[in-house]
Amino acid sequence: MYRLIHNLSPLDRERLVAHFLTLDEEDRRLRFGGALPDDMIRDYVNAIDFQRDRLFAAFDTRFDIIAVAHVGLVDGKAEIGLSVLRGYRREGLAVRLIQRAQKSATAHGCKQLWIHFMCDNAAMGALVRKLGMTVKASLGEADALLDLPDASPVAVGVTLYEERLDALLGVWRQWLPHAA
Ligand SMILES: CC(C)(COP(=O)(O)OP(=O)(O)OC[C@H]1O[C@@H](n2cnc3c(N)ncnc32)[C@H](O)[C@@H]1OP(=O)(O)O)[C@@H](O)C(=O)NCCC(=O)NCCS
Repeated sequence: MYRLIHNLSPLDRERLVAHFLTLDEEDRRLRFGGALPDDMIRDYVNAIDFQRDRLFAAFDTRFDIIAVAHVGLVDGKAEIGLSVLRGYRREGLAVRLIQRAQKSATAHGCKQLWIHFMCDNAAMGALVRKLGMTVKASLGEADALLDLPDASPVAVGVTLYEERLDALLGVWRQWLPHAA
């Protein structure tokens, strides 16, 4: 099933909390570098700065989040944190989230994509190598890096338009029930 990728807004915080709470201990370790307890997950989501960062997600038919990328835009770098729920893996969602993050980061003037992950995360290791990212590993942790090209004015316009459109859809989503 082809799923659209949406840009999230602060109105989606409850949906984000519900998504991260669904991750089991091992997935939380791989995603956050430690098996965060529920209250720290809530703190993490409450602290997300939607003005600075971008969050992209895919939904199921009940508009619960099944996959999400948190893209931190800092100092010309875009750092991506990813999670895809177990029942939806190997459908290419992580790759599509990274591609969307890449487009957005380029349009916002970033020069490099960066994904930090644990060396024992075989799925991430295979994924970033498939995307042609350069991997540097040290002391059980790894950084995958990809240099970004300059954005064309058309690409910037299209990306910013998509973000505006998604903001409108985000308002509409609040009227729908979800799992949180
Ligand atoms: C890592 C993760 C995000 C991958 O999500 P996904 O949507 O299943 O990944 P994709 O379907 O886009 O996979 C793309 C490619 O990555 C590689 N890959 C993904 N999962 C893999 C696995 N379990 N084993 C080996 N290769 C894997 C494959 O090359 C795959 O392409 P293919 O399916 O055509 O062979 C997901 O497993 C996850 O959420 N894990 C827990 C949290 C985490 O590890 N986050 C990353 C730290 S930021």
